[in-house]
Amino acid sequence: MSERIRVIQVGLGGMGQGWLNTLKSCEDVDIVGVVDLREEAARAAAEKVGIGAENAGTDMHAALEKYQPDAVVDVTIPAAHKEVTLTALAAGCHVIGEKPLSDSLPNAQEMVRAAEKAGKIYMVSQNYRWAKSVRAIRKAIQDGLIGKVTAANIDFYIGAHFGGFRDEMDHPLLLDMSIHHFDMLRCVTGVDPQAVYCLEYNPHGSWYKGDVATTAIFEMTEGIVFTYRGSWCAEGHNTNWNGHWRIIGDKGTIIWDGADVLTAEILTGAKEGFTRPKELVEIARPEVGPEGLGGSLARFVTAIWEGGQPETWCGDNIRSVAMVFGAVESAGRGERIEVNW
Ligand SMILES: NC(=O)c1ccc[n+]([C@@H]2O[C@H](COP(=O)([O-])OP(=O)(O)OC[C@H]3O[C@@H](n4cnc5c(N)ncnc54)[C@H](O)[C@@H]3O)[C@@H](O)[C@H]2O)c1
Repeated sequence: MSERIRVIQVGLGGMGQGWLNTLKSCEDVDIVGVVDLREEAARAAAEKVGIGAENAGTDMHAALEKYQPDAVVDVTIPAAHKEVTLTALAAGCHVIGEKPLSDSLPNAQEMVRAAEKAGKIYMVSQNYRWAKSVRAIRKAIQDGLIGKVTAANIDFYIGAHFGGFRDEMDHPLLLDMSIHHFDMLRCVTGVDPQAVYCLEYNPHGSWYKGDVATTAIFEMTEGIVFTYRGSWCAEGHNTNWNGHWRIIGDKGTIIWDGADVLTAEILTGAKEGFTRPKELVEIARPEVGPEGLGGSLARFVTAIWEGGQPETWCGDNIRSVAMVFGAVESAGRGERIEVNW
């Protein structure tokens, strides 16, 4: 039986509450301290998880010194991810952090280098990719259900009135949401970005300061073209948070509505007719263990106990976040650019 992992959680805002619940209900970890710049948030969190107000603080360095934890859970805002992660790694901790890995590519590169140098795990949570449907699509593609993938589209439209830091960000959709879609796309296809052309805009009537809508075309490895359209400022006929998906292969097409509908239409092999005969198949979604934040945490714990890297370790995740920064750069320059990381 492996030892329970002692963690401190840094960042106790909206998403921090979900993480507190996930950590508290996990038998493999002990929350030993909680930290937030806002003292009242830290105190409330300590009360919520039953560790006493004396274990709540506003100073991460002091908490690391006091508890000597095995791991840090970073649920701060994107602009703080670098500082929190570098501080945790320097203290000898493993880190699981919220997306996006960082708020700039140079910062993300520095964080990956720091994790490698420290010999510690730094994993980005990417909770969307542990969903049963995503794992089922990944397996269907790996099993060759639709043949060789040639193209994929994701459409995402939600009129989201958050308030808070997203309203002030320069690229709220790309940096804070599209990262999930880009990462899921990489997860199911197994390919990486090579180039992107992106248009970013802020629609009339937007309640965001930065550009909150985008259309992007990515050239991926293996010749796959990925087209992404998204907006957080689209009222009416909203999609699911996963977006609406179409993945085209040379033997058929997968459709996922981001929720219940997950089907493929695949060629029967008959060589007749203007459009060739096809059959409609439901894609089964077997149990895959914990989804969402629980799925992230389970993989983090396993990697700490057994060694090796979790699927979304920083060295992999930088390829997803590079799609974000590539799209931002392309939109700023108004031209197609190569995506590097
Ligand atoms: N995976 C998901 O589905 C999902 C959903 C929402 C948010 N998120 C991510 O979670 C993170 C937090 O988002 P949120 O909505 O909870 O934001 P929030 O603003 O509600 O909370 C952030 C908290 O971090 C604290 N904080 C900021 N800098 C800090 C620092 N240096 N040290 C200690 N505390 C600090 C703030 O005081 C605040 O309490 C972001 O990276 C966001 O993108 C992920």
